Amino acid sequence: MQIILILFELVFSASIAIYAVSMLYSQLKGAPYVPSNQKEIEELLKLAGLKPKQLMIELGSGDGRVLRTAVKNYKVQGIGIDVNPVLNSWATFLAKRQKLLNIKFISKNIFDYDLSKADAIYLFLMPELIDKLENKFNHEIRPKTIVISHGFEIKFWKKYLIKKRDHKPFPTYYYLIT
Ligand SMILES: C[S@@+](CC[C@H](N)C(=O)[O-])C[C@H]1O[C@@H](n2cnc3c(N)ncnc32)[C@H](O)[C@@H]1O
Repeated sequence: MQIILILFELVFSASIAIYAVSMLYSQLKGAPYVPSNQKEIEELLKLAGLKPKQLMIELGSGDGRVLRTAVKNYKVQGIGIDVNPVLNSWATFLAKRQKLLNIKFISKNIFDYDLSKADAIYLFLMPELIDKLENKFNHEIRPKTIVISHGFEIKFWKKYLIKKRDHKPFPTYYYLIT
């Protein structure tokens, strides 16, 4: 009985340690893990004009809740990119549990994933990280792509801003690339 308790404690402590390290890693790579609010997600996706079979890429997908909602409600194909493998495993598990087929989560740094095939892109990232993406966005994101930035504006793309959803604590900015 005592051995079982010790084993349980060890597994529990190891899980907490892995989780804590992975959260620290997310932060070090540019943005801490702060999930979007589920009710907010449903409202902000209504304004995105998503269509079935479009490819939606989420940059820093966390537990995949935004992408899972988009795939479920709008029948898009979803690719989530997150640097944190713990969050990706959890997102994959949740998507499987929801029986969502057209969705996958990839453990990568945003800077290492090609965005040229996206029809829609969602991000909820820190302003400093967004600023660093200027070159990549300008080179890879195609005309007609809708880019939804939750929380913070994309300062270098003011010319593409088509609407803003004012909401507290986080507004949402919509860009249509031309
Ligand atoms: C604020 S959370 C947003 C999570 C999710 N998009 C949502 O809205 O619920 C930011 C996410 O970006 C991820 N992240 C931070 N820097 C990254 C990078 N350089 N490449 C890929 N993912 C990154 C973190 O692991 C975290 O899950």
